[in-house]
Amino acid sequence: MTTQIIAANWKLYKNPQQTREFFKGFLPLAESSTHEIFFFPSAICLEATAEMLKGRRIKFGAQNCYSQSQGAFTGENSAQTVKDLGGELILIGHSERRKSFGEGDQLLADKLALVQSLNLLPVFCIGETLQEREAHQTQPVLKTQLQIGLSKADKSKKLVIAYEPVWAIGTGKVATAQQVQETHKDIAQILESLGFADCPILYGGSVKPDNAKELLHIPHVGGFLVGGASLEVSSFAALVNTK
Ligand code: PGA
Repeated sequence: MTTQIIAANWKLYKNPQQTREFFKGFLPLAESSTHEIFFFPSAICLEATAEMLKGRRIKFGAQNCYSQSQGAFTGENSAQTVKDLGGELILIGHSERRKSFGEGDQLLADKLALVQSLNLLPVFCIGETLQEREAHQTQPVLKTQLQIGLSKADKSKKLVIAYEPVWAIGTGKVATAQQVQETHKDIAQILESLGFADCPILYGGSVKPDNAKELLHIPHVGGFLVGGASLEVSSFAALVNTK
């Protein structure tokens, strides 16, 4: 099996001290993982993360950045600064950014272009709401998010997609294996039609050690983006060691 990506999205949890404590416990348990491991701590914990991951193959980055690297943008994060700290990744368009902070597809397209121009790896999130799924709109919604979101992307550079059904995030309601299989297949087809074949597609939404194995073996599932279960050493260590 090819390497899959197991990514932690810590959202607005942990301070720098808790970040260091997490890594002290986690790193010895992750040594035999065959997966690529990504961390997205909150921006204030990036420096502590960089310190703890120095010299390791585990990658980290920010949960968001602005569409410009610097300027009069009070309160924003700079992708360039993430890079200066040794970060290699930026999460873009998480549904919480879309919903709670009003980020739309056009802005996300600009962010993605900036991130790629800095040679950082974008992990671009898409997903439908429950209402959209029930109205059989999942496919067109994902297609629009990808069409606009990737409209300024550089096809020669790497890109990771994270599919997270909004109704499965933090709810304990994981999508069924069949839903994941069908949707990931659709996303792979959309990506191919847009000229982005071979892009890893992560699944996210209530991934836990007890459902990980089944989901990880579904075709077109390139790994996971994990919220709640990435906060505890034991559960995230179990996830990165899932075969
Ligand atoms: P969850 O969050 O694993 O807690 O559902 C996933 C995410 O928001 O990336």
